[in-house]
Amino acid sequence: MTRHLLSFLPLLLLTKAALAQLTVQSPQPSVQVPLGQPAVLPCTYTLGSGDSLREIKWYERTMGGNRVPVVFYFTNPPQETAFRGYEGRASLVTADASTASLRLNETRFSDNGQFECLVGAMVSGVPQEVTANIDLRVLVAPHAPKITGDYSEATGHLNLTCTALHGFPAANLTWYRDGVAVPAGRVDVVTDGQGYQDARVSVNFTVRANSSGAGTVTYRCDASHPSLTTAMQVSGKLGPPIVTGITTSPANIESLMEYDDVTLTCAAEGGLVLEPTYQWSRDGTSLPDGAVAAGNTLKIVFASPKDSGTYRCTASNVLGSTNAKKTLQFKEQPLIREPQTQEDSGLPGEITLVIVLAVFAGLGAFGGAAYYIRRRKQSQDEEAPEVVEEEPKPVVAPRSILKAPPVPMAQQRPSLTNQNVPPAALVDQGRPSHSNPRPEGAPSGVQERGYDNPASKGDEFNPQY
Ligand SMILES: *[C@@H]1O[C@H](CO)[C@@H](O)[C@H](O)[C@H]1NC(C)=O
Ligand SMILES: *[C@@H]1O[C@H](CO)[C@@H](O)[C@H](O)[C@H]1NC(C)=O
Ligand SMILES: *[C@@H]1O[C@H](CO)[C@@H](O)[C@H](O)[C@H]1NC(C)=O
Ligand SMILES: *[C@@H]1O[C@H](CO)[C@@H](O)[C@H](O)[C@H]1NC(C)=O
Ligand SMILES: *[C@@H]1O[C@H](CO)[C@@H](O)[C@H](O)[C@H]1NC(C)=O
Repeated sequence: MTRHLLSFLPLLLLTKAALAQLTVQSPQPSVQVPLGQPAVLPCTYTLGSGDSLREIKWYERTMGGNRVPVVFYFTNPPQETAFRGYEGRASLVTADASTASLRLNETRFSDNGQFECLVGAMVSGVPQEVTANIDLRVLVAPHAPKITGDYSEATGHLNLTCTALHGFPAANLTWYRDGVAVPAGRVDVVTDGQGYQDARVSVNFTVRANSSGAGTVTYRCDASHPSLTTAMQVSGKLGPPIVTGITTSPANIESLMEYDDVTLTCAAEGGLVLEPTYQWSRDGTSLPDGAVAAGNTLKIVFASPKDSGTYRCTASNVLGSTNAKKTLQFKEQPLIREPQTQEDSGLPGEITLVIVLAVFAGLGAFGGAAYYIRRRKQSQDEEAPEVVEEEPKPVVAPRSILKAPPVPMAQQRPSLTNQNVPPAALVDQGRPSHSNPRPEGAPSGVQERGYDNPASKGDEFNPQY
């Protein structure tokens, strides 16, 4: 220990004697830190014996060239001040009597630039200032790299470009062909208005359109960056598109009917550097007039049975093509499934006749019931009300039908509705006073009853009279 001290002593004495003044230095010329992480910009100084530190000042020379204050520290009285833009982020690291480092928290992209460490001291009674510079690089990882392919049919050249945008500094891009590094073509770095850098690297080669037997080649682009521990990768295959199948919406095509809409979607293996183009066709004939092909989808709208057939999707690029097919069968709509348009849509004569007969049968049945009601009213008007209690069920039954919503018009089931109506109501309804104000035999009395029922019921009643 003592021996060590003794061996250093001459050196220290020499340094002191030689300098006898202030020195400042930064142990490293630049510091790199990922965006948002804290940065420590190192700065050290030495003082002659008897000399005293007065101040430590940090400035930043921004990308615009301005020298702006960051942190000032004065010894007498001890006071540290961080300036605008650095408040709460910047502080001095004064671990010992020779350290004047700057700690900057939560680094921002705007912190990129050159920092200046200024140390002021009284040297032999005279104020002196010495500075040291250090660069801060706040690293911004680029966006994930992307591959684009640009094929010229005229020359047969394929230009693959790998792009990694918005990094700082620019990403380092490397191409691999089936895992083997490829010497890059042009390397472009473009700096945008904010200072972020876009990197682009192209590889250029000749493609033989009918060399499909050679199989698919995989191209990969790695984007490495000082802020990343492992490179980001993107790869693309160079080969003909492989169609994997056609999906449909609706998925179940077993029960397709005329007037249906169907969308076919052609699926091809992804990741090709030469995007496929899609073509739709129908075996043996042309596509239906109403079919709309858009890229890998084909939409058949308001199908007719004539649109049935085998649909084929072909995906192709300069290296070849593959296809897939799907057979669609549109069945005719059975007429019964179209109640709304029966009257308008020219039905076959027999069916119209059946309907007319059914309507007449219904009218007849109802007319009979109505006639019966009228007769009952007349007899009730003549007879005393108390008769109602003695009356057999059919007396009140027709009125109950009119009153009770759940019973469809065509089904006249007096006994059932009778059970549903409390005896008091039966009596009340049986009173002649209700129908008295109405003219004798006028259908309006019955109609009014009809309106007592839900609207749909009323609608059904009205046409009958
Ligand atoms: C910077 O961050 C460190 C660690 O979180 C903290 O101790 C220090 O006080 C911060 N500096 C400023 C100026 O806030
Ligand atoms: C490849 O394409 C890119 C982008 O289209 C272009 O900038 C570049 O110059 C091309 N490279 C070659 C070698 O043709
Ligand atoms: C870019 O990456 C390649 C491959 O990892 C490496 O050989 C090269 O030195 C890097 N270039 C730079 C400028 O970092
Ligand atoms: C790249 O391809 C273009 C045509 O697309 C061609 O003119 C050029 O010579 C090629 N460059 C290299 C370096 O192969
Ligand atoms: C490519 O096809 C053309 C004719 O289509 C033929 O003349 C040529 O020899 C073929 N090239 C290769 C490499 O197979």
